[in-house]
Amino acid sequence: MSKIKKLAVLTSGGDAPGMNAAVRAVVRAALYHKLEVVGIERGYEGMINGDFKPMTSIDVRNVIQRGGTFLRSARSIEFKTEVGRAKAYEHAKANGIDALVVIGGDGTFKGAGLFSQEFEIPCVGIPGTIDNDMYGTDFTIGFDTALNTVVESIDKIKDTASSHDRTFFIEVMGRDAGFIALQAGIATGAEAILIPEVQGQQEKLTDFIANQVKLNKTSQIILVAEGNNVGGAAEIAKKVSTEFSNLQIRVNVLGHMQRGGSPTAFDRFLASRLGVAAVEALLDNQRSIMVGYKNHEVVHVPFNKTIKGHRNVSTELLKVADILTI
Ligand code: F6P
Repeated sequence: MSKIKKLAVLTSGGDAPGMNAAVRAVVRAALYHKLEVVGIERGYEGMINGDFKPMTSIDVRNVIQRGGTFLRSARSIEFKTEVGRAKAYEHAKANGIDALVVIGGDGTFKGAGLFSQEFEIPCVGIPGTIDNDMYGTDFTIGFDTALNTVVESIDKIKDTASSHDRTFFIEVMGRDAGFIALQAGIATGAEAILIPEVQGQQEKLTDFIANQVKLNKTSQIILVAEGNNVGGAAEIAKKVSTEFSNLQIRVNVLGHMQRGGSPTAFDRFLASRLGVAAVEALLDNQRSIMVGYKNHEVVHVPFNKTIKGHRNVSTELLKVADILTI
């Protein structure tokens, strides 16, 4: 029998489409299991400041289709300190919180891991980030929506690129991981994909473009993951333009639009399943774990594994990209 009577939920780090669907699922699952539930505003910042608000089923009505996070988010510097976490604990205790569900990326889980080690409040994490870079889960909430946004944008850029015989360098997000770039590159038929996980790309790119020119390919899309080791799209484009002065080069940094928009059906579905799983894991006396999604099933992964583990890009996908970008 669980001792948990009241739980809190927060969203932290970069927002991701589907976070609202996850909050909704946590709130409704908590109410279903006769628990009280509160939302914490602006992630750990709100916890430090005592910004808690009781949640009812009505409070999460009509949010499943909304992008962003209605609880708002923040990257809290103070929560990285013991003093900050102690303040957060005082507020949690004063509000009668017995357990915490955090929705975010690895920074969010690091914070929750430390917090639950220091204080008697069990925490469970739900992976929410567009980057899809969490170890232990095949998907993070928001990735599918961001990927579709990127694909839609590139398709549009391709129209103008081919009309004007131009080479476009398009930069996408992903922090130090190339999952968005790799999958969007395959899905849009990009001519080249530069990601942090692959070395020696600059030299290859020069040869590749020389070959494209020889083949009379008049327009091309070169996808650049923001964290790649060669530089940002603007930097790479500059280098290439000195070597290939005949190319008409343009740069497009997609930026934060990749984080917005209504979540796809997949992200809503994933968020709903993981939200329910997070509450049930807590009721099952689990703590310091992430609820993830592996091989189409919900899994539990200890925080220390997901924080320390490194998610590799699939070699099969790299090969597909290689084969299809000749
Ligand atoms: O982690 C999500 C993400 O969008 C990354 O892809 C990107 O590097 C970063 O957040 C941008 O953060 P901010 O919104 O703080 O500029």
